[in-house]
Amino acid sequence: MENKKKVIFSGIKPSGDLTLGNYLGAIKNWVKLQDEYDCYFCVVDLHAITVQQLPADVRRRTLEILAIYIAAGIDPEKNTLFIQSHVPAHSEASWLLTCNAYMGEMSRMTQYKDKAQKGGESIGAGLFNYPILMAADVLLYGTDLVPVGKDQVQHLELARDLAERFNRLYSPTFVVPEPYVAKTGAKIMDLQDPTKKMAKSEENPNGSIQLMDPPEVIRRKVSRAVTDSLGVVKFIDEQPGVKNLITILSTITGETIEEIENKYEGMGYAQFKTDVAEAIVSELEPIQNKVKELLNNKTYLESIYKAGAEKANYVSMKTLRKMQKKIGLIPVAK
Ligand code: TYM
Repeated sequence: MENKKKVIFSGIKPSGDLTLGNYLGAIKNWVKLQDEYDCYFCVVDLHAITVQQLPADVRRRTLEILAIYIAAGIDPEKNTLFIQSHVPAHSEASWLLTCNAYMGEMSRMTQYKDKAQKGGESIGAGLFNYPILMAADVLLYGTDLVPVGKDQVQHLELARDLAERFNRLYSPTFVVPEPYVAKTGAKIMDLQDPTKKMAKSEENPNGSIQLMDPPEVIRRKVSRAVTDSLGVVKFIDEQPGVKNLITILSTITGETIEEIENKYEGMGYAQFKTDVAEAIVSELEPIQNKVKELLNNKTYLESIYKAGAEKANYVSMKTLRKMQKKIGLIPVAK
């Protein structure tokens, strides 16, 4: 019998320009996993619109993210790269799962709680429901593994719960997916406030390195990154800023934390920061050049997301039909 590869699904939403956090916590791992798995990498545009976006920004970022996936080394021939809104089964499966989700479990999602606190009464209902759409994304493809950063693990637990509930209520339908969270780089922190995660939507632009930041901007941001007055390069909780920079360096170069600590012993922060900045620049610069090239070739990008949508539509519709049938919806007459 043919040895079928296990399935990976993951995605990034075009709600802001991608950061080093998105790259180190997600994309860099996808590149490593792509040969071993049958992978679906999606630009999840429907997730981005849970908060108000300028339409032109959504369009620009959607294509840019696709270009970043390819430029970072994801082979579009071997993997399925697509845009979420091109595959209507996601929205529909999301509704079917919504009808089996509980208000209680949804209100416990910490990302929603954080955002609700800031938004009050006018918080969008999409923000509340969004983890169900994410569950639909994953479950439609029989996904075994979902490589994400730490902040998405709770959403995946919900996806697992929804899958198990559906399987129990009707009959086995979904593979129950596992999160894949890398040992280093799963939570890159803000450079200005290293107690907060580096985020796309960050108000303070110096706190997050954008994937498309020019080298001089990266160097400036790293040189201004908050450290402390201890003056030692140690991976300890009392030094969250330094700890974060060590994590970044280690995730990029593959050096262990201990190796990094030893290398900078007795040296203060200047050389260390320079080396962190150079590591980031040499990792991102070739990707940026490739992204720019790809964005000049819209026909090529179009051919990738067209082929991706065809494959994704085929696979996801099969799962959606199963769901509909089991729930009791009459199949469309042929
Ligand atoms: P999003 O778009 O916020 O982030 C995309 C990926 O980047 C990771 N990430 C980070 N990793 C390390 N450090 C950080 N500071 C950091 N910030 C973000 C995220 O964990 C994520 O892996 N809901 C998801 C998108 C999504 C999805 C899916 C993911 C929709 N459907 C299905 C996997 C499977 C989101 O908002 O990610």
